[in-house]
Amino acid sequence: MALIAPSILSADFNNLEQDIKAISSADYVHIDVMDGQFVPNITIGPVVIKNLKKITNLPLDVHLMIVNPENFIQDFRNAGADIITVHYEASNHLDRLINQIKASGAKAGVSINPATPVENIFPVLGMVDLVLIMSVNPGFGGQKFIEYTLEKVRTLKNKIKELGLQTLIEIDGGVTIENAKAITEAGVDILVAGSTIFNSKNIPETISILKNA
Ligand code: DX5
Ligand code: ZN
Repeated sequence: MALIAPSILSADFNNLEQDIKAISSADYVHIDVMDGQFVPNITIGPVVIKNLKKITNLPLDVHLMIVNPENFIQDFRNAGADIITVHYEASNHLDRLINQIKASGAKAGVSINPATPVENIFPVLGMVDLVLIMSVNPGFGGQKFIEYTLEKVRTLKNKIKELGLQTLIEIDGGVTIENAKAITEAGVDILVAGSTIFNSKNIPETISILKNA
């Protein structure tokens, strides 16, 4: 059974509370924070997260696609982030940054873009709660799944087993009902899905199908 993290990037922002209620059977709420610099899009920040926190008990899985993430960790934690995931590519001092996230009280995640070798994050694997493998180039919902990222999932899963760690593997981008099975078989624990969930007619049913893929 996979854990499901609906990405609210594809939710209806005029009816956000309704969409948040519709995903109550999911395991996390995935929140994509974009700054127009690390990625070519701008989304939401701590103010929206603070208000989301009031209307859901699900853990908030905050995916920071921003430059200088070290300047904002405490702000996102104060807003209610339960997991804070930063990009390997956005930091010159990843070890320090992960320690900063943990000191804030949040769980720590590290993410890599499709073209970044997964081996690059092996040195910090023992420090993080999850690794987020990007299966699209980050910036937008509704893109096509990049197949070669599954090979990185397999490599990562083997390394986690070899080291005897509990680190969760999350994948983000282009997850559909059709490819969910192959993705979980490769070793993914948490499926992020935006358009597949929020564009579906029956959101709880889609979450259930993804869970049981
Ligand atoms: C992409 C974001 C994703 C995105 C996923 O930059 O990090 O979380 O919203 O959307 P779908 O599932 O539609 O590919
Ligand atoms: Zn994301």
